[in-house]
Amino acid sequence: MNFDFKIPVNVAFGAGKLSTVGEYTKQYGKKALIVTTGPFFKESGLIDRIQGYIKEAGISSEYFLEVSPNPHRSEANVGIELAKKMGCDVIIGLGGGSAMDAAKCIAVGVAQKDDIWPYWMGEKDIFAALPIIAITTTSGTGSHVTRYSVITNDETLEKPGAGSEFMYAKVAIVDPELMLTVPKAITAATGFDVLAHSIEAYTCNDAIPFTDLYCEQAIRLTGKYLPIALADGSNLEVRENMALADTYAGYSITAAMVTLCHGLSHVVCGIGNLVHGTSLAALTPASMRHSMSANPEKYKNIGCWLKGMDSVPADWTTEDSVKVVEEFISAIGLNVPLGKQGIKESDFDRIIEETMGYMGGACDCDPAEISAADIRKVLEASI
Ligand SMILES: [Fe+2]
Repeated sequence: MNFDFKIPVNVAFGAGKLSTVGEYTKQYGKKALIVTTGPFFKESGLIDRIQGYIKEAGISSEYFLEVSPNPHRSEANVGIELAKKMGCDVIIGLGGGSAMDAAKCIAVGVAQKDDIWPYWMGEKDIFAALPIIAITTTSGTGSHVTRYSVITNDETLEKPGAGSEFMYAKVAIVDPELMLTVPKAITAATGFDVLAHSIEAYTCNDAIPFTDLYCEQAIRLTGKYLPIALADGSNLEVRENMALADTYAGYSITAAMVTLCHGLSHVVCGIGNLVHGTSLAALTPASMRHSMSANPEKYKNIGCWLKGMDSVPADWTTEDSVKVVEEFISAIGLNVPLGKQGIKESDFDRIIEETMGYMGGACDCDPAEISAADIRKVLEASI
């Protein structure tokens, strides 16, 4: 055994924790930029609440609402210019992964003072960022505890994820009360992202004993609580447990990695603007079938943990695990093939090239060898 494990994020977890945002933010700056997606959180009063807590702590704030789901390079650039103009020295990401990823990108862009794109394409190493506070409102993308930020290039539709120690949030506020009103479709898609993170981090080449523990718990919690969250989203205990699963899975992907399935998801979402979690649901079964012979014991565990079983029966197979995952996808209403999400067979060549290109790191971390023919087979089974 030989590994490093460090996740330098102060996790403030629990109902009501939002009220601590002012106290935390004042430790890192004098003027905050709150970054979020669309007008919803302004209209719902959440931004006013946060600005109130920040003001009580004696610091000022501005907000930037122009972030799309699958946030764009152009939007991040507008946020960077706004932060500079307003003299903001701490960035607060409020929302799901899109808002938090955009906040991280803005924090890097302001601190580094040059074009962010070469850093997202892996051509240069990120060297600085303003302090980041992440407030997650979904469960989730894990972005509140990861070093990753995924941004889409408006012109080329490439959707790379950059990773850097500098993009860890100083504080991640996980307040399940904020999740009680998340709509069903978002609960299902983000909840499946949690499962995909756990499956991929557990089976990837960079998995370590710490991440294996987190992955097991994240898979068990998602199997138990995501269907209940869909039936009764207003149940605080259920939302707490999905927030915990999301945080465990975030720890897992940041300390380990994702694999082929996330590599493919980034590319298809960049090309077709798909919903991240829904694209993962379409791609996960075939990705598992491709890779499961590389580590059968781990793939057997996944299905048993998702079903809440204490041990793996002697006659349990890797295919049994994939069937459990498929049943789960149907049960949460995400059984939507890629073809019904807007991807066409004529897109395959480009998807294969980009998955092996700018998302090649995810392919390299897959437990199985990945060739162009392998990716085509996964796409054909997922369309
Ligand atoms: Fe993800």
